[in-house]
Amino acid sequence: MKANYRVLGIDISEAMIRIARRRAPRAEFRAGSFFEADIPPCNAVTSISECLNYLVHSKNHKQTLVGLFRRIYRALVPGGVFIFDIAEPGQVTHGIKMRGFSEGEYWVVVLEKEEDPERAVLTRRITSFRKVGEHYRRSDELHRQRLYKAADVAGQLRKAGFRVRTMRSYGEHPLPKNHAAFIARKPT
Ligand SMILES: C[S@@+](CC[C@H](N)C(=O)[O-])C[C@H]1O[C@@H](n2cnc3c(N)ncnc32)[C@H](O)[C@@H]1O
Repeated sequence: MKANYRVLGIDISEAMIRIARRRAPRAEFRAGSFFEADIPPCNAVTSISECLNYLVHSKNHKQTLVGLFRRIYRALVPGGVFIFDIAEPGQVTHGIKMRGFSEGEYWVVVLEKEEDPERAVLTRRITSFRKVGEHYRRSDELHRQRLYKAADVAGQLRKAGFRVRTMRSYGEHPLPKNHAAFIARKPT
């Protein structure tokens, strides 16, 4: 925004869109799936923090991902970039339900996750308690993610026409274990 680019944000969660509108009042936001949204001609597309892993469609997710790469490639100007990251298989040891929690002064988040290595699917159950007045408000979330190998994703990006750099950090910010980020550039 500071560089005077026009910004369009897309998220399937209305709650995330509400937060984004507060943080960037001059940007445009749409609630919906990026697997279905129109992507206007643009200089850059970013999708940060595992957004592409979420299983929100019943269709073959791998095909949907390949289709998304092609649509982004068409939308980008020559030299334009697509920057994103993904979670890979190996988030949780096979057969183990990993449990943990984080806490702050007025909140606690409890997490349980397990991985099906045959289907490369991660299931994450998150329960949060947030203090509101005298009481704690509870909310429950269930996340299902398809996990992709970085080499396969890079291959699909190249098939779509991109030049690809795979990274294990965003600059000086390392990614969590078994995560990869990509800078995919449309050739000039
Ligand atoms: C881990 S959050 C990251 C959010 C944000 N990029 C950030 O870094 O704070 C992943 C986001 O992807 C969104 N998401 C997952 N699948 C999506 C889809 N098919 N279309 C649009 N948004 C999706 C979720 O609603 C969620 O807000």
